[in-house]
Amino acid sequence: MDWSESTRRSFLKQFGAAGAAAFAATKAEGLGMPAAMGAQAPAAQPALTATDQKQIATREARMAWWHEAKFGMFIHWGLYSIIGQHEWVKEHEGVPIPQYEILAKHHHPKPNAARDWARLAKRAGQKYMVMTTKHHEGFCNWDTKLTDYNAMKQGPGRDLVREYVEAARAEGLRVGFYYSLMDWHHPDGAICKTDEAARRRFVDYTHGLIRELLTNYGKIDILWYDVSWPLTAAQWESERMNEMVFELQPDIIVNNRNGLEGDFATPEQRIEASAAGRAWESCMTLNNSWGFNRADDQWKTPKTIVDNLITCARGGGNYLLNIGPEPDGSVPPASIAVLEAVGKWMDTNGKTIYGSERGTLNPNASCNYSRKGNTLYVHVHGWPGHTPAAQWLDFYKPEVVVAIGGLKPKVLSARMLKTGKKVEFTQDEFSFRLTGLPLVAPDQPATVIEVECDGEPIVDHGAMRPLWPRYKVGISI
Ligand code: GLC
Repeated sequence: MDWSESTRRSFLKQFGAAGAAAFAATKAEGLGMPAAMGAQAPAAQPALTATDQKQIATREARMAWWHEAKFGMFIHWGLYSIIGQHEWVKEHEGVPIPQYEILAKHHHPKPNAARDWARLAKRAGQKYMVMTTKHHEGFCNWDTKLTDYNAMKQGPGRDLVREYVEAARAEGLRVGFYYSLMDWHHPDGAICKTDEAARRRFVDYTHGLIRELLTNYGKIDILWYDVSWPLTAAQWESERMNEMVFELQPDIIVNNRNGLEGDFATPEQRIEASAAGRAWESCMTLNNSWGFNRADDQWKTPKTIVDNLITCARGGGNYLLNIGPEPDGSVPPASIAVLEAVGKWMDTNGKTIYGSERGTLNPNASCNYSRKGNTLYVHVHGWPGHTPAAQWLDFYKPEVVVAIGGLKPKVLSARMLKTGKKVEFTQDEFSFRLTGLPLVAPDQPATVIEVECDGEPIVDHGAMRPLWPRYKVGISI
């Protein structure tokens, strides 16, 4: 169980089943919640409302760029970054608000930190960014008129959201705003659950903040809501919220964490495709924390990130990968190293990800897949190299052989992306073999072979099995 999951679990324990129900409704599309919690509050899909329905007509057009983009950068940056112990530190460690507030005065990020993030995102092959405008801590990173607890009036003395927006645009990246509905700082943020006057004030405040964000910064591409505790969608007036959002930004896309369906699902820290036809984006940390965590050195490798990106692409989904900048805005060097390695791979292999389409492509121990039209991209992450079996088995000759069981339909040609070289192959009903490959993997962390087929490529060894007669028996089971 990762930390964010344990965090959520203890938070919900603290706030009881009602909190869990609200939370589960918001995060209905599965965030790896423990079974016990599921029993308390079955994670039903939020019902489609009239507001959702209205968005359906324009969805395909609004989301076209996002489906093409596939890969984005998430940025968690706030006062918690100063403590440097995860963005939930206030709750985890029980930091009193008057103590925590002091941080706001001592927040002095370096100028234009966001430029470095945007340039890094570009180098990594990411096409959009989503930055925390306000996390659960309640501190607003922009020049809001609705509270003094904001970057303009406190230590930074600057509008950090504006800098971010300008930086992203300067690199040609799409701009997303993360916004946490849950607010630990606002006096009405919890009591609004039981006190109607407080709810009214807090909902007006929330809608007002979102209105500012979507009014003062030009065209915004994504609104990424988070945690709707402690209110239900009806109590947040989420339908009215989304109506306002689309009125201000007709081309925007919104996620599903304000209790409505939104345009896309948000599996967190795991990859899970939604049902076909439903857009989804897997968000994930590079180590185990969203906000900067000085001591967390459990970095994912470029190999893991590339494989995750391929797995998302294979399922028709997007991958939103997080950085947690240090208090001054610098990106941890380990994050830079991973993202640059991923970017280098994307320089050669980006065409296998961008604009790729969902497919029936079941990976095996050595290969993952993506596809575009009739083109199959075989991502070999476990390069076979030399096998002693090749001395005796024709199947593994001429070395090196990458074999795939259950590929349909007929293959027309194959080519290695890294070198552009043609690859020889044989194909029978049950096995497709790429032959005569180099001994050492030509590319890292995965070598891609582009395979042209005469129809949509499907890799499904399970489906193929009954067609393959059992040896010496003949029948198929
Ligand atoms: C969870 C966490 C939060 C993080 C978010 C990202 O909801 O509470 O800290 O911002 O996931 O998806």
